[in-house]
Amino acid sequence: MPSILILYYTQTNNTKKMADAVAEGAKNDGKVQVEVSYYVEPEELAKYDALIVGSPTYHHDIPMDIKRIFEEAAVQGITLKGKVGATFGSYGWSGEAPKMVQEIMKNKFEMRIIDVPLALKYTPDEKGLERCRALGKKVSESLIQ
Ligand SMILES: Cc1cc2nc3c(=O)[nH]c(=O)nc-3n(C[C@H](O)[C@H](O)[C@H](O)COP(=O)(O)O)c2cc1C
Repeated sequence: MPSILILYYTQTNNTKKMADAVAEGAKNDGKVQVEVSYYVEPEELAKYDALIVGSPTYHHDIPMDIKRIFEEAAVQGITLKGKVGATFGSYGWSGEAPKMVQEIMKNKFEMRIIDVPLALKYTPDEKGLERCRALGKKVSESLIQ
């Protein structure tokens, strides 16, 4: 069964709410194995067929925990080439982190990015959560076609 890791960081749970909704969509009636995690060892990234990374924007930047996982993966020469990737995250006013993470996944790790970054302002409303579910489902569908 294809597998997806939803890796996220949060301080005030907004991005966690998004992560849980992305996971709901990604499960796709049990056709795909989905894990949601706050932290993984860099080498574990290679175990999954797709990575969906949730990153809120703090100080116009990617949170250190997320950055460190990718930096360590790069140092250790972890190969993610061709794996499916997508990003999301909550923000307040500028919201650049999901785009920055996506650039790293695409340009450094040569992952196959399948959607634009999904950035939602502060706490996601039901409409926002539906967009999160749709993102999860889209990634999931890309693995089972
Ligand atoms: C100290 C601090 C710095 C922040 N810097 C930014 C920023 O540079 N750009 C932005 O869009 N939002 C910024 N925010 C707003 C957060 O991205 C926003 O509160 C978001 O919902 C947090 O997501 P989380 O609940 O998943 O941690 C900042 C918030 C705090 C507390």
